[in-house]
Amino acid sequence: MSNKTPSHGDAGEPDLALRPHSLADFIGQEKLVSHLAVYLGAARARAEALDHVLFYGPPGLGKTTLSRIMAEEMGVNIVMTTAPAIERAGDLASILTALQERDVLFIDEIHRLRANIEETLYSAMEDYAIDIVIGQGVGARTVRIPLPRFTLIGASTRTGLLSAPFMARFGIVNRLEYYTPPEIARIIHRNAALLGVAINEEGVILFSERVRGTPRVCNTLLRRMRDFLQVEKYPCLDAAFVEKTLTTLGIDSLGLDVMNRRYLEILIRDFEGGPAGVETLAVSLSEDKETLSDVYEPFLIQLGMIKRTLRGRVALRRAYQHLGIPEPQAPNQGELL
Ligand SMILES: Nc1ncnc2c1ncn2[C@@H]1O[C@H](COP(=O)(O)OP(=O)(O)O)[C@@H](O)[C@H]1O
Ligand SMILES: [Mg+2]
Repeated sequence: MSNKTPSHGDAGEPDLALRPHSLADFIGQEKLVSHLAVYLGAARARAEALDHVLFYGPPGLGKTTLSRIMAEEMGVNIVMTTAPAIERAGDLASILTALQERDVLFIDEIHRLRANIEETLYSAMEDYAIDIVIGQGVGARTVRIPLPRFTLIGASTRTGLLSAPFMARFGIVNRLEYYTPPEIARIIHRNAALLGVAINEEGVILFSERVRGTPRVCNTLLRRMRDFLQVEKYPCLDAAFVEKTLTTLGIDSLGLDVMNRRYLEILIRDFEGGPAGVETLAVSLSEDKETLSDVYEPFLIQLGMIKRTLRGRVALRRAYQHLGIPEPQAPNQGELL
């Protein structure tokens, strides 16, 4: 295993050039960013490691980016890994013992840590020491290894799966929210300039409403638009060009992509609007249920198109309206979770 494994979603990331490198450069999430600035300033002034941090929320909203920024602002190294890459307690021990004072250890998908690794982390986080068993059978003994004062930053697409004792060990817990269109508009302005793409104000406004409030989607689509612009030798991303390109790419008026609409269509047509269990839906969509609940559903819930109930997922009026499918007379709404 490698303790430099890039976090999920960052492998071969094409937009290194677009990544903000300081809190001042980071657009949106204003309340969270202002709190982080306080914690960073205070830890720096005391010359102490930052408290352990947990970032959670849907993919593409800036968890990894913020984690790197925290390390940059602290002026320390960041070691990046992902929970499934840490297979044995020994893997974790070798990462931890290689850290220097105040370094950041970033663990992506931290809800996927194995139970024994999580338990080893408890003492590392709390006591800055780990107990390692050396030898076997009657000769086995436990050795306590002291660790530098480090900061663990965990990122997760969901908190529901972190155990209560684990959660309690993070001093700073933050949820990232979807970005508003004006925030996305600022990101588009910044990144279009960095990529050398001409875009006008109407283009920015239209575009900012079609990226599901997600910077990663915004950056990916901006690159595709740059390609179309270049090939079609069009002067600037204006509203007409943005509209046409988004349509070509299968992005609709609310920013939903082909997969988002397929989810809604299957829920409405094959399951009569639900309630449908997430496992059943996942089979129909040939996706795993974690992807449905962590990647696709949060934005559909935010839009008020579906809801999660005790008996499964239910399509709401807005979903029928958006797809232009007549609503049944007495929709079965299930019971709220
Ligand atoms: N607030 C932001 N301002 C500008 N760009 C951002 C912002 N948040 C994220 N990004 C960009 O979006 C991409 C996805 O962010 P990332 O941190 O990888 O998300 P996550 O780890 O939550 O999945 C990054 O490449 C980054 O450049
Ligand atoms: Mg990430």
